[in-house]
Amino acid sequence: MAESLTARVTAALAGLRNPRLETDLISAGMVRELVVTDDGKVSFTFLLSRDDPATLVREARAAVRAVEGVSPQELRISVVDPSGPAPASHAPPQGAPPAGQTHGQAGMVPPPQQPVDYPNLGCIIAVSSGKGGVGKSTVSANLAVALAARGKRVGLMDADVYGPNIPRMFGVFEKPPVDNQKIQPLFAHGVKLMSLGFLIDRDAPAIWRGPIIMKIVQQFLRDVAWGELDYFIVDLPPGTGDAQLSLVQSCHVASAVIVTTPQEVAVGDALRGAKMFEKVNVPVTGVIENMSPWTDPATGQRFEMFGSGGGRRLAEELRVPLLGSVPLQPGLADLADRGKPILVANPGSPAATELNAIAERLLGLFAARPKVLPVLQG
Ligand SMILES: Nc1ncnc2c1ncn2[C@@H]1O[C@H](COP(=O)(O)OP(=O)(O)O)[C@@H](O)[C@H]1O
Ligand SMILES: [Mg+2]
Repeated sequence: MAESLTARVTAALAGLRNPRLETDLISAGMVRELVVTDDGKVSFTFLLSRDDPATLVREARAAVRAVEGVSPQELRISVVDPSGPAPASHAPPQGAPPAGQTHGQAGMVPPPQQPVDYPNLGCIIAVSSGKGGVGKSTVSANLAVALAARGKRVGLMDADVYGPNIPRMFGVFEKPPVDNQKIQPLFAHGVKLMSLGFLIDRDAPAIWRGPIIMKIVQQFLRDVAWGELDYFIVDLPPGTGDAQLSLVQSCHVASAVIVTTPQEVAVGDALRGAKMFEKVNVPVTGVIENMSPWTDPATGQRFEMFGSGGGRRLAEELRVPLLGSVPLQPGLADLADRGKPILVANPGSPAATELNAIAERLLGLFAARPKVLPVLQG
């Protein structure tokens, strides 16, 4: 079902032409990260350059909505200008209300943003990946804990607005108090935390449009009482969508760290994600491979669920260091679900040992740099 629905959605998009490129939207490579679920949820990133007619967004939206089996309220299109960080239009093309718009913000287009300096946040590190489920949140959470354990003042911002799972990973679910007009971050395992998961119902539909995501990200940066931090880790959703864009437009990201599994397809996605950071002049500091092959020392049995070598290939391609390979760790997911990062629950485990080593490597790399890197001219 999902297969054929994906095919039908793709065909619908392939039926539209970009007059500038004289080819259809699919062949033109304008549709990225297309995700179609069995129950008709569709999301994709739409690469619309300034020279393309903006009406293509409306046409694409209408074409996909018309596909049988697609749930029109669950269609999410992130419009991205591939030529630069300024957002292309999230504005509903004249008169057409955007799908799923439930907030009174219709037509609110954030102006092109100038990143703001937040010197109190210290070194801002974005943890990103091309694909979901590769371990971004696991890596973010454990690196935050590892840095805090080394005496650093650490904040962790859960920018995965679609699936905020930092609350669960840290076992905190309270509503953050508001004091003096500032949201107070929560605190667990030595780390200050903020997540949309603290603020909304756990079952609330997480379909947010670009301008709202921008507001959430800016609020998390500006209106949370983070205090003085050394490191500010941002756990991003997969891909190169609105959260990534909002983050790099809102603050000076010192570094992006790319998480991938050893698998080829995850590497391809991760490469695209990394290129996005390069395009907006955020240096990619390194690659972390997660769910790497693992040999049980007791039995000598090798577990290799997700292939091998992908992290190194990606690092080579990006010409950045491979910061480490975190092995598949039996029991890690269970512990994470119970609010215990592996570093806390089982610090002697191979995964925790490698995550600690990665934190050390990062500290070494950042020690040699200024606190906040200047934005390079592109
Ligand atoms: N090295 C690992 N070994 C075993 N399970 C892992 C490992 N890394 C992540 N997981 C589990 O895989 C799932 C996806 O990880 P998560 O960090 O949520 O990924 P993402 O944030 O990229 O979507 C979670 O259930 C997590 O506990
Ligand atoms: Mg996650």
